[in-house]
Amino acid sequence: MAESLIVDQNLSKEEKYKSLLPQIEALTTGETDLIANISNLVAALKQGFGFFWVGVYFNKEGQLVLGPFQGPIACTRIPYHKGVCGACYTRRETILVPDVEAFPGHIACSSDSKSEIVVPVIKDDEVKLVLDVDSDKLNDFDEVDQKYLEQLMKLVESWY
Ligand code: SME
Repeated sequence: MAESLIVDQNLSKEEKYKSLLPQIEALTTGETDLIANISNLVAALKQGFGFFWVGVYFNKEGQLVLGPFQGPIACTRIPYHKGVCGACYTRRETILVPDVEAFPGHIACSSDSKSEIVVPVIKDDEVKLVLDVDSDKLNDFDEVDQKYLEQLMKLVESWY
């Protein structure tokens, strides 16, 4: 596995994703432990983009349960019908939230979180987990984040 991550902070957001994704693939290749790989994936996103919070919630025990993350402490369990994560689970698609205060039912783990994107991993017709990325800036995510984070979640799908 690669031991360091190279992220040129002068790159555009899209160029950064293009540079980071193969590095994340390389650093997880050859490792079969799901938690180890997801831990490095969220750390790489945090390091590369400086997002406020990056982490996953696993679909287990009939709800969404906190997994590896980087950032401030967060709520540990989210019911399927609650929050942006629950909406992602229920709708089985990426949810982009430009302003969390305008999203009905948003769960504020931190009042500093202002916008959010949540992307599902679906395998064998089941949502396995959702990736949640939060920003402390309004309107910080767009279709570029959606495209590359969905690509990244295809990689996670291949780990199941
Ligand atoms: N805001 C999320 C909860 C998780 S935290 O942001 C880490 C939601 O509404 O589902």
